[in-house]
Amino acid sequence: MFTAEFRDQFDALLRWRRDVRHFKSDPVAPELLDHLLAQAMLAPSVGFSQPWRWVKVETQARRQTILENFSAANLEASTHYEGEQAEHYRRLKLAGLVEAPVHLAVFADLDPVAGSGLGRRTMPETALWSVVMAIHTLWLAARLEGIGLGWVSILDPQAAQRCLEVPDEWSFVAYLCLGWPVEISEQPLLEREHWQERLPLDELVLKR
Ligand SMILES: Cc1cc2nc3c(=O)[nH]c(=O)nc-3n(C[C@H](O)[C@H](O)[C@H](O)COP(=O)(O)O)c2cc1C
Repeated sequence: MFTAEFRDQFDALLRWRRDVRHFKSDPVAPELLDHLLAQAMLAPSVGFSQPWRWVKVETQARRQTILENFSAANLEASTHYEGEQAEHYRRLKLAGLVEAPVHLAVFADLDPVAGSGLGRRTMPETALWSVVMAIHTLWLAARLEGIGLGWVSILDPQAAQRCLEVPDEWSFVAYLCLGWPVEISEQPLLEREHWQERLPLDELVLKR
């Protein structure tokens, strides 16, 4: 079903997927975003519960509140480093909230009706993990269309949840920026900025 050429391209897709924080201001067509979301929802989910809930954050006021939330959390995070590392941290660009044309908050319904609880009895957190599976699928689908995605987790999740006025039983998972990237790279930005190198496989795989 999958050709050698497709396998090479799939490998390239994985290698060239990036967390993007530098966006052009060009809009993303709403139909394209919906197409990406439909692909994301092909992801696996515990009990087929499909617990992902997507919030398109469109109002400027809410976007501004999220930006202020990020700025405060990022400033606070910087105080946990010292000396040169603190300087280094402050120089990193850790969100593209100002430039990104699409803001998408992602929640998990922690007790979804779909799936009738199958698979969540001993590990209820699988609902959250299912949502992360969908986010990664979205990440790849977006990259395939040339759209960059940046995950912003440097946020106070409760404040973000209040700002977005979603049901209390939803749990905040991610705030995503999407748009056309300024550049593409085979290397993570944090690697290019000498914050962290990619770890070798043999350090991370155990045999028992
Ligand atoms: C759960 C999660 C949270 C993340 N939060 C942030 C964030 O707040 N800001 C940021 O710049 N990148 C964030 N990232 C992106 C990572 O920094 C990035 O995935 C990593 O550096 C590897 O780069 P790559 O995605 O380009 O391969 C997050 C990624 C994940 C999976």
